[in-house]
Amino acid sequence: MVFDEAIKKFWKESPNGTVVNFAEGLETQRFRLQKDMAEDALWISIDLPEAMAAREKFIEPDDKHLHLDVSVLNAGAWMPLVPKDKPVFFTAQGLFMYLEEEENKYLFQQLADHFPGATLQFDCISKWFSDKATKGDWKLTRHYTTPKMPFGVNKPNVQLLFDSWVPGIQIKQVEMPTDKLDGMLRWIVPLFLSIPYLKRMQPGFFLRVKFPSK
Ligand SMILES: C[S@@+](CC[C@H](N)C(=O)[O-])C[C@H]1O[C@@H](n2cnc3c(N)ncnc32)[C@H](O)[C@@H]1O
Repeated sequence: MVFDEAIKKFWKESPNGTVVNFAEGLETQRFRLQKDMAEDALWISIDLPEAMAAREKFIEPDDKHLHLDVSVLNAGAWMPLVPKDKPVFFTAQGLFMYLEEEENKYLFQQLADHFPGATLQFDCISKWFSDKATKGDWKLTRHYTTPKMPFGVNKPNVQLLFDSWVPGIQIKQVEMPTDKLDGMLRWIVPLFLSIPYLKRMQPGFFLRVKFPSK
C-alpha cells in the first residue's frame, strides 16, 4: 500500500526513473504498478540467488524488469547496473530487520556515495521488538518461532541513528493508511497511535530517507 503509492508518485514526477526493489522475494507489486510505468522507466529486483531462482519459477524478468541475483551487500556487483543518469527510487520491504546494524550502515553509506539525492523507502522495527525476536525463542504458535531480527531502532532514535551513518540524510515517517485496515484494526490502530508512549514504542513503521545531494 504505502510502497505502491510512493512508487506511483515517483513515476509521476520522474517517468523515466528507475525503481530498485531490494529483497523482492515473491512480491507481485510490479504487476499492480504496470499501468503507472512509462515506456522508458525501469524496475530492478535484487535478491539472493536462491530466492531469485524461486521467484523465476513464477515471475520472469523482461526488458523493463531486470532480476539481479546478488546480495544487496555486494554493492560492487549491482550498483554499476543501475542507470546513473536518471532518478532512482530504492525500496526495501521486509529486509533491513534481518540484516545486522553494521550491514545496514554499510548499505546506506554506499547508497549515499553512489546515488546522492536518491530516495529509499523501507519498513523498520523497533529495538524492543528486535531484541525480543533475536532471543530466538519467541514462539507465535506451537510450530512457528519468530525468526531473528537483529536490527531495530525505536522511533525517537531514528534521526540520531541514521544521521550518524549518513550526515545530512533527510528522514520522513510514512504514515500508515489506517483507513485501509481490515475490521477492528481500523479502529484499534489509530487509538493505539494516539497515545504518545505507545506511538514511540510502535513495533513497526515505515520510513523514507533522502540521501544528501553532492
Ligand atoms: C521477509 S522476505 C521479504 C520478501 C518481500 N520483500 C516481501 O515483502 O514479500 C525477506 C527477503 O530478503 C531477502 N534477502 C535477505 N538477505 C538479503 C540480501 N543480503 N540481499 C538481498 N536479499 C536478501 C530474502 O531472500 C527474502 O526474499
